[in-house]
Amino acid sequence: MVKARRVGHATFETPDLEKAIAYYGEFMGLIVAEREKDRAFLATKIGQLVIELNKADRAHCIKLSFEVAPNSDFGELARELSNDGVRSELRNDSVPGMGQVLSFKDDKGTTIDLFKDWSYLAKHAQVAGVGPLKLGHVAFFTPDIQRTVAFYERVLGFRVSDWIGDFFCFMRCNTDHHTVNFFTGPDVKLHHIAFELKDFMHLENSCDVMGQKQIPIIWGPLRHGPGHNVATYHRNPDDQVVEFFCELDQMKDEELGYFEPRPWHRDAPQRPKRWTPGKTNVWGPSPEEDFHRTQ
Ligand SMILES: [Fe+2]
Repeated sequence: MVKARRVGHATFETPDLEKAIAYYGEFMGLIVAEREKDRAFLATKIGQLVIELNKADRAHCIKLSFEVAPNSDFGELARELSNDGVRSELRNDSVPGMGQVLSFKDDKGTTIDLFKDWSYLAKHAQVAGVGPLKLGHVAFFTPDIQRTVAFYERVLGFRVSDWIGDFFCFMRCNTDHHTVNFFTGPDVKLHHIAFELKDFMHLENSCDVMGQKQIPIIWGPLRHGPGHNVATYHRNPDDQVVEFFCELDQMKDEELGYFEPRPWHRDAPQRPKRWTPGKTNVWGPSPEEDFHRTQ
């Protein structure tokens, strides 16, 4: 089985490339690592590639990359994918800092690129704007959530961390409570993309940046139940929901099977579980109806 170790970057199509670059650069505090006419690559201030922007007619998240072990044999992984009924190909998309990728589509049609060779694109740069530490997780609507969850478990080695009812699933591929989430919906769309901030002070600072830039906070601050992250949400210029979070639950030992104990946990120990819809906040407001609107 392929074992995804972490999410690398998310690739977005956007109708207004300049506006998207300005948002991720000036507001988010990412660094434009490389710019082509219709394409841009953005890295964190630490130097990891997190966002690729492609000019297109519509706004859509079309691809995620996942790092696999450095000694992975792509030929062997391709055979394993084939055994799971997944056709893959070796590609070199000239993504800055990244070597060859093994590319295929997941069950809902999102492209997945597996990579093992990468290098930093910047070195601890000072940035204006929010300046997240990393891309944390990406959440999608999917028409058949059981099928999608089964694909990520069986083909990519993810584990289920939590469910809300039977329509929202959180999945992990490393110590983080979730790196992908799936929400039942009629169409395949981005639900939200989330960036990790250093701590609550950094989150407060991001609220002040949103205040200065007059970007409304559409949900939060709140502490979630599933994952127990403190979070805020806003919309980017393409009307996609973006989350800032800190203090996400960590499962440091898969065999122990519980999340690192924290004072805000109500279960002792806190294990993966099914949460009751409408009762998933530890504290903070519920989202307005408009939050669930997708562009
Ligand atoms: Fe999230």
